[in-house]
Amino acid sequence: MRTTLFTAALTGLLSSTAAQSTTTPGYDDCNNTISSTVPANKTLSFGQHYAVLNLDLINALVSSVATTSEGESFISNTADWINAVHAQTPAPLSIFTRIFFSNSHKPEIGPATPFAQVGGALGTASSNMTAIYPAFYVNDTAGDVVLQKTRYYAGAGNGLEEILRAQQIDTVILSGIRTSGVILSTAYRLFDLDYKVYVIANNTIETPPNTPDINTNILEGILPKVPIDVITIEQAIAALKVSGPAVY
Ligand SMILES: *[C@@H]1O[C@H](CO)[C@@H](O)[C@H](O)[C@H]1NC(C)=O
Ligand SMILES: *[C@@H]1O[C@H](CO)[C@@H](O)[C@H](O)[C@H]1NC(C)=O
Ligand SMILES: *[C@@H]1O[C@H](CO)[C@@H](O)[C@H](O)[C@H]1NC(C)=O
Ligand SMILES: *[C@@H]1O[C@H](CO)[C@@H](O)[C@H](O)[C@H]1NC(C)=O
Ligand SMILES: *[C@@H]1O[C@H](CO)[C@@H](O)[C@H](O)[C@H]1NC(C)=O
Repeated sequence: MRTTLFTAALTGLLSSTAAQSTTTPGYDDCNNTISSTVPANKTLSFGQHYAVLNLDLINALVSSVATTSEGESFISNTADWINAVHAQTPAPLSIFTRIFFSNSHKPEIGPATPFAQVGGALGTASSNMTAIYPAFYVNDTAGDVVLQKTRYYAGAGNGLEEILRAQQIDTVILSGIRTSGVILSTAYRLFDLDYKVYVIANNTIETPPNTPDINTNILEGILPKVPIDVITIEQAIAALKVSGPAVY
């Protein structure tokens, strides 16, 4: 039973299946443009109390798309964004999440928790598969935070909400992998907790199979209807320049 679950989890989470070589990740690129919910002529600002959420950018997930052209664009756009955020003076609050379990028993999921089917193949903090992918720079000097998480939602089993509240954050800007996993789950939850939520379309990606329709439907259909703003990386970087000085 345990073996079956973990095998299923590996198949769902990692890229090493034959099926994935015949499908491509869902991504907004030159072939699949996503419409922003913010008009091109509107000056967008994140204000002063914003936090940048970089979700599940771990080796297991990112390396599963890294060899595709969509994955390369996702990685380079997300890294550009992270670096642009670090270049702000003062640097705003950046929070990264990693999926990992407290020890080899994986007590957070046990043998039969539903999340075990998608995340159960991952290991502990010391597993390279759960480490932040090397293209993404965690700047300790800037005060970047890295949180453990053990479900889809970015705040599951950690201090995310406490940190956002204590820092009086009112706006969050989301990047991460997968659009249908951590992005959707976190966007809904933080919307309900009264945060203004932005998702950077170029910094999200949907792993195969059944993409890119899922990615497009989430970014152009579901999120705008909530309403959660879906913006381009160009708009996000332009907004950084008129936002702040960030309070953190
Ligand atoms: C766009 O589609 C063309 C033709 O199918 C393909 O060669 C190219 O790699 C695609 N571009 C991206 C960024 O996926
Ligand atoms: C970001 O996404 C938008 C919308 O799909 C696209 O027009 C733009 O070219 C992308 N930017 C980059 C740098 O990939
Ligand atoms: C932005 O463009 C829309 C649609 O073209 C137009 O109605 C609106 O007046 C413009 N707003 C500004 C501030 O230019
Ligand atoms: C960890 O994984 C990343 C991404 O697959 C790889 O680039 C790196 O070399 C690995 N590091 C170690 C110590 O295995
Ligand atoms: C890291 O953050 C510090 C403090 O904000 C900043 O001075 C430094 O340039 C950053 N480093 C990089 C590589 O972004």
